[in-house]
Amino acid sequence: MKNSTFTHTPTSWETVLEVRTNLSRYISGHRLAHTLSVEKQAVDMAKIIFSSLGIDNAYISDVSCATLLHDITKHFSLEEQLKFCEKHSIEICKAAESSCAMLHSKTAAFLAKELFDINDCVFNAIYCHTVGGNSMDIIAKIIFLADYIEPTRTAESCKNVRELFYSLTENGNMSPLKALDFCIIKSIDGTLDYLIQQNLPIHIQTVITRNGILEDNAFFK
Ligand SMILES: [Fe+2]
Ligand SMILES: [Fe+2]
Repeated sequence: MKNSTFTHTPTSWETVLEVRTNLSRYISGHRLAHTLSVEKQAVDMAKIIFSSLGIDNAYISDVSCATLLHDITKHFSLEEQLKFCEKHSIEICKAAESSCAMLHSKTAAFLAKELFDINDCVFNAIYCHTVGGNSMDIIAKIIFLADYIEPTRTAESCKNVRELFYSLTENGNMSPLKALDFCIIKSIDGTLDYLIQQNLPIHIQTVITRNGILEDNAFFK
């Protein structure tokens, strides 16, 4: 996975403002509260991780833009998700065919591109936010984890991973980037537990993402 620093032009703050101003057209109620909480969580983590890696804080605008838009198609029905995928030639796998939860990350990325002409980094972060992907860079990883650990999520596993991220980064036992990877593994474990308990299909990309992060970190040994 891509852990290098960035060279692209970050999203302009004017675009972030435009997205924020128009957001309630696409998201409302608890979903809006979740979205704003993911943004806050992701920006907080990005500040810690960027500063440890010397990444310019100008890229915080990409973090804000991606989080604000990550769930903009979550309200689509399954029929609407599938129709949108067909129209945009979005590839879907068997496990995702019957699941809005798995399709909305892809449709949200394409709709966000259409509406706000987001850059590739923001597109990728939105596209990867449910099942991950080998193209995940640091911003995509931050959004992936923030979506799982933002404070309006009250599930025990979400709270535990949130506490784990801060305890790992605060006590200095692990670099923030390694802590990010480690906590993504833990968040995927929580998701896998849930999917197994509910007899729900596991997207193959989730397993590939978990394996990839483990390999990148020499299996945390
Ligand atoms: Fe989502
Ligand atoms: Fe979300």
